[in-house]
Amino acid sequence: MKIVLFDAHRYDRDSFTAANRDRAHVLAFLEARLTAATAPLCAGHEVVCAFVNDHLDAEVLTGVQRAGIRLVALRSAGFNHVDLAAAARLGLPVVRVPEYSPFAVAEHAVALVLTLVRKIHRAHARVREGNFSLDGLVGFDLHGKTVGLIGTGKIGRVAATIFAGFGCTVLAYDKFPTPNPALSYVSLEELYARADLISLHVPLTPATHHLIDAAAIERMKPGVILINTGRGALIDTRAMIGALKRGRLGGAALDVYEEEEGIFFEDLSGQVLQDDVLARLLTFPNVIITSHQAFLTREALAAIAETTLASVTAFERGAPLAHQVHV
Ligand code: NAI
Repeated sequence: MKIVLFDAHRYDRDSFTAANRDRAHVLAFLEARLTAATAPLCAGHEVVCAFVNDHLDAEVLTGVQRAGIRLVALRSAGFNHVDLAAAARLGLPVVRVPEYSPFAVAEHAVALVLTLVRKIHRAHARVREGNFSLDGLVGFDLHGKTVGLIGTGKIGRVAATIFAGFGCTVLAYDKFPTPNPALSYVSLEELYARADLISLHVPLTPATHHLIDAAAIERMKPGVILINTGRGALIDTRAMIGALKRGRLGGAALDVYEEEEGIFFEDLSGQVLQDDVLARLLTFPNVIITSHQAFLTREALAAIAETTLASVTAFERGAPLAHQVHV
């Protein structure tokens, strides 16, 4: 089938081209993000392949359908950026990649934690400048600390195993707990009260939007460290900044940001950053930010391309769509 990929980077081109080697799909890679203005670029294609910062609202979906698209293939696990009701009304099936490498994301969360608590980001910059002093670099052991995981799906469960391996006590909260020897389920209240580090692994839904707001932070242990590799809007960023300024939060390790669309994945190094909230976050010595790269491993990219193209092949053959997302 003819597939157009929006927001496509070199690594997407490489992984999709490799996965398509034994298939006969025709791939077009566009750097542009999918918007109402770029939707007409779908003309001549049957499948549109979008990523997390392509905003597939009713207007965009109408545009792609008018351009001839018959299938929306998300090369992400999250689908909070798609108006599923509108897609259903337009008769557009939506498929996603429910699992590609939970290890990629969980390991990135742990990499962020270690970087932050051992101040590796600051040490690296210092040493490169010829400054070999240790003042200000005192960290703490993860061993013996209590980690609170909110969300124990595929990624949260891998994170639990890794943190347990460090000798942490792992507390967990999930709407649908699944028994696991590496963790103990507790109420959200108890998790907030006991955790030294809190890591978010729930999807973004109306129920989890700003789950971590000013009131939630007040219920946490003073000095707690927040880790977010889920979705930016799980945290009320302004409330987090206020708590960081007061020293109420001990630090934040973030791979996602609620206003990341249009910023993350772009090289803006030659421009003046227009987002004042992100700019403030970047000034804290105890905040570390990566631009939504937790998924970015060779293994994950290969799995994303493989699952996406398998879904397209199934659609072409009229076979059931195993990874279809329903309203
Ligand atoms: P999953 O679907 O396996 O697990 C999600 C868990 O959250 C489930 O156990 C579910 O019961 C729980 N949950 C849902 N709503 C809840 C609520 N209101 N309160 C408490 N628990 C709730 O998902 P997976 O694969 O573990 O991914 C988690 C999230 O990580 C994704 O939804 C996505 O937003 C994010 N993600 C981020 C990536 C990155 O590159 N930074 C890459 C992949 C996923």
